[in-house]
Amino acid sequence: MSILTAQDITYTYPGTNVPALDRLTLTVETGEILFLLGVNGSGKTTLLHHLNGLLRPGSGAVSLHGMLLGRYREKDLFSKVGLVFQDPNDQLFAPTVEEDVMYGPRNLGEDGEKAREMAAEALATVGLAGFGPREVRTLSYGQKKRAALAGILVMDPEVLLLDEPTAGIDPIGAVRIMELVRALNESKQLTVVVTTHDVDLAAVFAHRVCVLDKGQVVRTGPAAEVLSDAAAMRKAGLRLPRIAHLAEILRDKDDVDTETLPLTIGQARKWIKDRLGNKR
Ligand SMILES: Nc1ncnc2c1ncn2[C@@H]1O[C@H](COP(=O)(O)OP(=O)(O)OP(=O)(O)O)[C@@H](O)[C@H]1O
Ligand SMILES: [Mg+2]
Repeated sequence: MSILTAQDITYTYPGTNVPALDRLTLTVETGEILFLLGVNGSGKTTLLHHLNGLLRPGSGAVSLHGMLLGRYREKDLFSKVGLVFQDPNDQLFAPTVEEDVMYGPRNLGEDGEKAREMAAEALATVGLAGFGPREVRTLSYGQKKRAALAGILVMDPEVLLLDEPTAGIDPIGAVRIMELVRALNESKQLTVVVTTHDVDLAAVFAHRVCVLDKGQVVRTGPAAEVLSDAAAMRKAGLRLPRIAHLAEILRDKDDVDTETLPLTIGQARKWIKDRLGNKR
């Protein structure tokens, strides 16, 4: 079942003459983690901004539950489809972290005390317990990204759109954030769309992958299929996950026999043990 669809959308930013999205069609399935992969300027952010109605397509249509985004009340739409901006400075606007995270629930009519509790819980979820009273401008970049995520999670959205959620986050922190997102996906059937050019991150967390190039979708499919499609990935300016690249070299240069390429360390471990004749 699809939850969000973009049908043949084209968008050209005012003052430019090359479309940022070019007759693009995309379906987001209910309960999936979909990764949008593409190089800088391929249209990832522009697409996400269409999926929550922040930008309106020049032509084509975007629908949530089969209804055009334009037919939703703005407030309803923004609480159903939560977008975490690529740059947290574009999202955070209140003086303190707590006020910022409380804004959504307050706007939906929660009283101050309840909104404060919800904010504290969301901040704890993203690893920022106790940061409520801090001034936003005193947070580090990674902390701001977490605060921005808390401000969306507090709304309990149906769809979570994450624009480069791990860019600028330290490696362990990046995995923690994605594990949190995956836990929400599993426990609440939260539908998640993640943009990134980090193919190794996609290998671990994506159910499905969609490759963007010059505002078009050039490849869509199960993560395992797309991420090991060397020709498609390279054509879009991306690379294979490191582990898959190593297996590809072993296959092509060292005659290691394999039909599929392992994508993650876990898959590679099994792949190597199988070839060492160690089936344990
Ligand atoms: N506000 C804007 N005005 C004019 N052109 C823009 C604007 N924002 C983006 N573009 C252009 O639209 C195209 C797609 O940009 P977009 O930000 O969607 O790419 P992206 O895939 O998110 O890139 P990145 O990986 O750098 O975040 C690019 O060619 C970009 O220059
Ligand atoms: Mg972007």
